[in-house]
Amino acid sequence: MKALVVYYTRDGRTKKVAESVAKALDCDIEEIVAGKSYRGIIGWLRAGRGAMKKVTIGINEPKHDPAQYDLVVIGSPIWGGLMSIPVRSYVEKHKAKFKAVAIFVNLGGDNSAPGLKEMGDACGKAPLATMAVSTVETKKGQFSGKVAKFVEEILKGSYA
Ligand SMILES: Cc1cc2nc3c(=O)[nH]c(=O)nc-3n(C[C@H](O)[C@H](O)[C@H](O)COP(=O)(O)O)c2cc1C
Repeated sequence: MKALVVYYTRDGRTKKVAESVAKALDCDIEEIVAGKSYRGIIGWLRAGRGAMKKVTIGINEPKHDPAQYDLVVIGSPIWGGLMSIPVRSYVEKHKAKFKAVAIFVNLGGDNSAPGLKEMGDACGKAPLATMAVSTVETKKGQFSGKVAKFVEEILKGSYA
């Protein structure tokens, strides 16, 4: 029963939630490092447009091989209504190695459904659990209840 939390973050919020999930599952964690910068206004525009066009980019070689885990938990910011480019790139590259998945997103608004659906579809597996945490919840540190429920759902699923 080995789990791995994998996430990308541009502004640090998905990282906070990912760390909280990894702590609750007492498992390994891996940050996806994009081969392209999404900093600044140009980066922001590239990120939004690219996400909507569903582009993929080069990313770092993972330190943790997802094939070695019973469960991969994947976290992404929502960009242009969909998953972020680095997370799409990770999923495209490694999905064949996933045994079971759970997914979560971090977003400024409240329309998480298209991004969560896209991530689940891209993984090619029905997620054991899904979670959406807003920017406001993350800033205020008010997401521990959601993480507890997310982890409970994971543990109730076939992973347990
Ligand atoms: C390029 C870009 C596009 C975004 N598009 C959306 C969006 O369509 N819907 C939304 O709710 N939030 C959107 N956001 C807000 C992010 O999802 C939100 O700030 C999230 O907390 C960022 O996570 P991070 O701090 O881990 O990078 C966007 C942010 C960026 C940078």
